[in-house]
Amino acid sequence: MILWSSGRPGPGLDPGLFLLPGERSQGERYRHPGRHRQWLLGRALAKQLLVELLNSHNGRTWSPRDIVVERSEQGAPLARTASGRPLGVSLSISHHQELALCALCPEDAGHLGVDLERIEPRSPAFLEDYYTPAERRLIAAQEGLSAEQATTVLWCLKEAGLKALGTGLKVNPTRIETHELEPGPPGEWNPARVSLPGMERVLAWWRVRDDLAMAMVLGAP
Ligand SMILES: CC(C)(COP(=O)(O)OP(=O)(O)OC[C@H]1O[C@@H](n2cnc3c(N)ncnc32)[C@H](O)[C@@H]1OP(=O)(O)O)[C@@H](O)C(=O)NCCC(=O)NCCS
Repeated sequence: MILWSSGRPGPGLDPGLFLLPGERSQGERYRHPGRHRQWLLGRALAKQLLVELLNSHNGRTWSPRDIVVERSEQGAPLARTASGRPLGVSLSISHHQELALCALCPEDAGHLGVDLERIEPRSPAFLEDYYTPAERRLIAAQEGLSAEQATTVLWCLKEAGLKALGTGLKVNPTRIETHELEPGPPGEWNPARVSLPGMERVLAWWRVRDDLAMAMVLGAP
C-alpha cells in the first residue's frame, strides 16, 4: 500500500502547529526563503500522510507533533515517533516551486522514491549525458507523449529511483533505466518498467498532469 499526496501551501502553513523545536532548527539549514518554504511544505505533507497512516492502524489518535521527520546524513527524510521509535515507514518528498509531492509505504514493502518536475525542453547534451541509448530510442518512439513530456517523465523516474536508492545524484542517473512506459488514462498514475542497481524487485509509476510530470519508484533488494 502506498499513500501519496501533492499540495500547495495554504495560508495557515504555521510551523508551530506541526513541527517540534528540534525539527524547526533542522530547517534553518535552508537559508533561501523559497527553499525553506519548500522544505516546510514537504514536512507538512509528510506529517499529514503519516498521521493518516497511523490513525488508520492504531488504537490511539496521532497528531503531527507526535511524529518527527528527520533528515538522514544523505538528505533522505526519516520518520520516527517524538519519543524516538522508528515508524517502519519509507517516506519520500519532492518539490517544485510552490508544489510538493510526498508518498510513503510500510518499510517492509521496499524503499520508496518520488519526484516532481515541470515539463520543459532538455538540451541534446542533457540527453547524451543522463539517458541511455535505449532510453533515447524509447523517448523517440512514444506515441501518446511529446518528446518534452517523455524526457521529463524519464528524468522523474531517474530522480525517484535515486531517492529509492537513498543515494541522490551520487549514483549516475544512467544507472536508473526505464524500459517501458505503459500507456493509460491521461493525468493518472500509469506503470513503468524500470531497473535500479542492486534492486531485484522494482515497481514504478508515472503521471503527466498539466505542465507537470511525477514519478514513484519502489525498490526492494
Ligand atoms: C535527491 C536529489 C535527486 C534531489 O532532487 P531534486 O529534483 O533536486 O529535488 P526534489 O525537490 O525532487 O527533492 C528534494 C528532496 O529529496 C529528498 N532527498 C534528498 N536527498 C535524498 C537522498 N539521498 N535519498 C532520498 N531522498 C533524498 C529530501 O526529502 C529533499 O527534500 P527536503 O530536503 O525538503 O526534505 C538529489 O540527488 C540531489 O542532490 N539533487 C541535487 C540537485 C541537482 O544537482 N540537480 C542537477 C540536475 S542535473
